[in-house]
Amino acid sequence: MNESVKERIRHLVGRENCLDGELDLFGYSYDASFVPLEAKQRPELVVRPGTTEEVSQILKLAYEHAIPVTPRGAASGRTGGSIPVAGGISLTLDRMTKILELDAANMMVTVEAGVRTSDVYDFCSTQGLFYPPDPASWKFSTIGGNIAENAGGMRAVKYGVTKNYVMGLEVVLADGTIIQTGGKAIKNVTGYDLTSLFIGSEGTLGVITKAILRLIPLPKMRNTIQIMFPNLEAGCLTVQKMLVSGITPAAAEIMDKICLEAVSKYRKIPINPEVGSCLIIEIDGNYEPEIERQIEAIRSIADDFDTLSFRVAKDSKETEELWAIRRGISSAIASLAPDRIGEDISVPRSAFPEVVRRIESIAKKFNLTVAVYGHAGDGNIHPSILCNLKNPEEEKRVHEAVEEIFESALAVGGTLSGEHGIGITKKPYIRKALGDSGVATLKAIKIALDPKGILNPGKIW
Ligand code: LAC
Ligand code: ZN
Repeated sequence: MNESVKERIRHLVGRENCLDGELDLFGYSYDASFVPLEAKQRPELVVRPGTTEEVSQILKLAYEHAIPVTPRGAASGRTGGSIPVAGGISLTLDRMTKILELDAANMMVTVEAGVRTSDVYDFCSTQGLFYPPDPASWKFSTIGGNIAENAGGMRAVKYGVTKNYVMGLEVVLADGTIIQTGGKAIKNVTGYDLTSLFIGSEGTLGVITKAILRLIPLPKMRNTIQIMFPNLEAGCLTVQKMLVSGITPAAAEIMDKICLEAVSKYRKIPINPEVGSCLIIEIDGNYEPEIERQIEAIRSIADDFDTLSFRVAKDSKETEELWAIRRGISSAIASLAPDRIGEDISVPRSAFPEVVRRIESIAKKFNLTVAVYGHAGDGNIHPSILCNLKNPEEEKRVHEAVEEIFESALAVGGTLSGEHGIGITKKPYIRKALGDSGVATLKAIKIALDPKGILNPGKIW
């Protein structure tokens, strides 16, 4: 990017909102994924627009000069989506943090893309309204990033994922054109469903600047249960039996012994050495008897699988503690080995116990430590290989194991990614999941919307 283009951008958004110091550029080459160092590229300029109009002006300029633009929310993504692999502009939406309107009559909220997910939740819940999607990173992830990645989270089992709550979007296209998709009408079949097209598009088709989100009434009560089992299978089977017997918890999260030991060390909480897995379940409802009935039904199902303990959180402090343990897994296991390859496979719920068994045998076959945790209630699991990729022999085993993990997901009708997207890290495997014609269809859409290929180049395929 030449200096005169940089200067025009500085003029557009203000000098203070453009960063090109060595340390800044280094910082913006990172996100929360574990991509190899050589894949991390520095942008040439970090730009922090404050309005949609500024985003549009920046894209017009980038389009004219064929400058790569990598949109960025809070960089909490796991697959390298916001790493600017082609250099150019890192377009950071972190100044666009306004909650623009709460429309209580329609139960919808309109927000700018840079608003933090948990801020949307908190704001709406003060009005008795509920925005359910809760990716593990929700305390810092942004709505724009959640939409771009179609983020999931813990509550997907009962409430679905981000896409189930997006009614409409404001998007800036590659050439700077601003479009509005969808709206507040619940039924809408006017042309192609462009809202859905941008959801999960990983910043490759347009820059999301605003969203209209659907809300639901906030359940009046919720409770959290922690159940310890002697092995992983018992936890998986409990979730399966619970779901088929008609109990749909708000969340049902599983973690294996490796995760538990890591969290216990990290957070200095003692655990029973006999524990082989743990379930954290959230139930919600509007009446006390409804909550009690669910707790007792879950207790009786779990008892059939030799529980070691069954604990119902007494108050909101204990609830917070239990969820902090779950949300802290990813950071805790990262401290166990020099490298961590975290996967995100998603399978039909009935196949969850089977795929977990397969992962356990893949770990044995390749003599690798694989920590298993995830969203047991919706079939989305994060097997995480803890390894040292500097050892070439180990690296080879890791790659073979990753291939087998993906194959085991595809074999039971599952997919490569439930909620983290493809980004850079899953790119080599996308053809296996979608086939040549599937990938060609994605590319045709990309070329139609971004003919110069400036939006988040180097991602998805
Ligand atoms: C989680 C993230 C990694 O579930 O998706 O913790
Ligand atoms: Zn997850």
